[in-house]
Amino acid sequence: MPQHEQPPTNASPRRAVVTGSAGFIGSHLAHALVQAGTTVIGVDRRDPSTDPTAAANLAALRGRPGYHHVTADLLHCAIDPLLIDADTVFHLAGIPGVRPSWGTQFGDYLASNVLATHRVLEASTRIGVSRLVVASSSSVYGPTDGDASRETDRPNPASPYAVTKLAEEQLCLAYAERPVGPSVVALRYFTVYGPRQRADMFTHRALYAALTGQPLRLYGDGHQRRDFTYIDDVVAATIAAGTVPNAHGTINVGGGSNASLLDVINIANSLTGREIQLHQDHVRNGDVLLTRADPGRAGEVLGWQPRVDLHSGLRAHMQALASPVPDYSHAA
Ligand code: NAD
Ligand code: UGA
Repeated sequence: MPQHEQPPTNASPRRAVVTGSAGFIGSHLAHALVQAGTTVIGVDRRDPSTDPTAAANLAALRGRPGYHHVTADLLHCAIDPLLIDADTVFHLAGIPGVRPSWGTQFGDYLASNVLATHRVLEASTRIGVSRLVVASSSSVYGPTDGDASRETDRPNPASPYAVTKLAEEQLCLAYAERPVGPSVVALRYFTVYGPRQRADMFTHRALYAALTGQPLRLYGDGHQRRDFTYIDDVVAATIAAGTVPNAHGTINVGGGSNASLLDVINIANSLTGREIQLHQDHVRNGDVLLTRADPGRAGEVLGWQPRVDLHSGLRAHMQALASPVPDYSHAA
């Protein structure tokens, strides 16, 4: 075992900053940290008092004494005061999504994923934060030959979004090489699903179509495969990455599901007893046929492995979608 790969701990930080806390993954992470006794400063440019998605995502945290929300854009705000006394920065803020990254929105991707990250790194170094965990993406691998992707594989990003995520994680790792500044763990999340998933994502749309009878637009033939990862598993890996002593570098976070879009559709059909009506459309640029994580390093460094299988995770996701009030129950 290399020197930096220590046995994992189950600790949670005393005080942490979560950027992107009004988003899908960030709000779940902030909630789990608060539950574990961490004081959390959540930073997001979406204002929960005016943005309904942010309000829904943060509903369970509202009024919790351990959670303090700051509405601010990391591109412009003073970051240093937010980081004072923080043991760990979980940097999840960014513009996600492969398809909209072509064209005019690329500037937003570059600004939030790269330039804002640079500001977070500079502030973390000034304040003396000891660990920064950054949300990277399976998309950095690009098209693969079907073998599981390992952290040592050469990245081959196939979309503007993926290029910005690769730049973001590499920027963080470059900062970590300096004698000052935080140690960095860049988690390559693989297609995350579960309650409050972004509405542009496939799983949300498939389950919504199954529940409502509205048609589902399928880009391609549905044989694309993803290593779908349940949100609770992602949160567990992320907290471990913030606390395991001496961890650093890139780590895959994949759910081990290796399922096709048609598999998801079939499970959604079986959960509702209704057949989703499909509208087939052309394959989108930058869409890869398959993602599959090699889980070895996550096990060795973080002591982490996924626990929620696709069927249980989709059932929990669907229950949350069907419920009028945000549902924070966890999959069995
Ligand atoms: P999300 O859009 O729900 O959350 C991202 C949040 O970041 C949003 O609330 C947004 O307002 C905030 N944000 C963006 N730019 C900001 C800025 N300049 N200042 C302050 N806040 C800003 O997305 P998500 O699905 O929760 O993804 C979170 C992170 O994980 C992203 O970095 C994404 O690239 C990465 N990721 C997500 C997935 C996935 O499957 N969801 C997979 C791989 C990587
Ligand atoms: C997802 C996230 O959206 C990215 O932010 C993240 O970086 C990436 O995972 C990752 O793993 O790193 P993706 O796997 O493309 O990207 O997830 P979806 O947007 O849910 O799309 C999954 C598949 O469903 C794609 O093949 C897409 O073309 C297809 N799809 C999506 C449809 O057929 N119809 C839709 O309405 C939406």
